[in-house]
Amino acid sequence: MNFKEQIDTTRLPKHIAIIMDGNGRWAKERGKMRVFGHENGVRAVRDTAEAAAEIGVEYVTLYAFSTENWNRPQMEVDALMNLLVKTINKETETLNKNDIRLQAIGDLKSLKKDTYKELMLAIENTSKNKRMTLTLALSYSSRWEIVDAVKQIAEKVKSGELTSQEISDETINQHLTTNFMPDPELLIRTSGEQRISNYMLWQIAYSELYFCPKYWPDFNKEDFYKAIVDYQMRERRFGKTSEQITK
Ligand code: IPE
Ligand code: IPE
Ligand code: MG
Repeated sequence: MNFKEQIDTTRLPKHIAIIMDGNGRWAKERGKMRVFGHENGVRAVRDTAEAAAEIGVEYVTLYAFSTENWNRPQMEVDALMNLLVKTINKETETLNKNDIRLQAIGDLKSLKKDTYKELMLAIENTSKNKRMTLTLALSYSSRWEIVDAVKQIAEKVKSGELTSQEISDETINQHLTTNFMPDPELLIRTSGEQRISNYMLWQIAYSELYFCPKYWPDFNKEDFYKAIVDYQMRERRFGKTSEQITK
């Protein structure tokens, strides 16, 4: 039986966050430039989005470019930005065909003008789609996001809109860029690296972590479904005892 058939569709994670990692190593193994790896990662993005939509996952959030990734060689940064524009442009039609809404989180204003423009256009052109929300984390880092949320909340306290006593988990949720999505139940990272790299630190407080050894360009639908099967075998206790959960 393949992994897709093993999934219990009544217990699907609503939100799956993914750290797409390993493009550079994938290219290097083939004696090619790192950019070649990024180009070949696009297929995995398309397949993952399709795989998620097919079974009814409502939110997929892909870590595509971190705040720290700006420190890579300029040539790679430029190539990634160009690839992004090209891909968004090309894939809008497929998103519409699959009824997928595109969204983006991160310090989007720091993107190059044409990248930003293309992104906003695709978000607008897919905004009516209902089946799934595909979010790209671009120029995103969790600490940047938390600092930004703290600034917004501090301003509201200063102006009297909010008292410091009223600040709750929910207040923080509402001021994060992810305020339109539920917390991910499952976080997948490819490439074998077992770290979070500044991704959704607040939101993954109780997420199940799944590390796939494959490099991102090799990641396919069955790998995605395998992660969900693994997730469904786990007991999520949220601080309680196993007996409390199963009774
Ligand atoms: C992930 O692959 C894509 C981005 C971070 C943009 P990498 O480019 O990090 O590839 P490795 O980890 O160096 O192999
Ligand atoms: C994390 O991958 C960021 C993205 C996948 C966009 P990195 O490759 O940048 O992470 P580190 O540097 O290995 O932690
Ligand atoms: Mg990497």
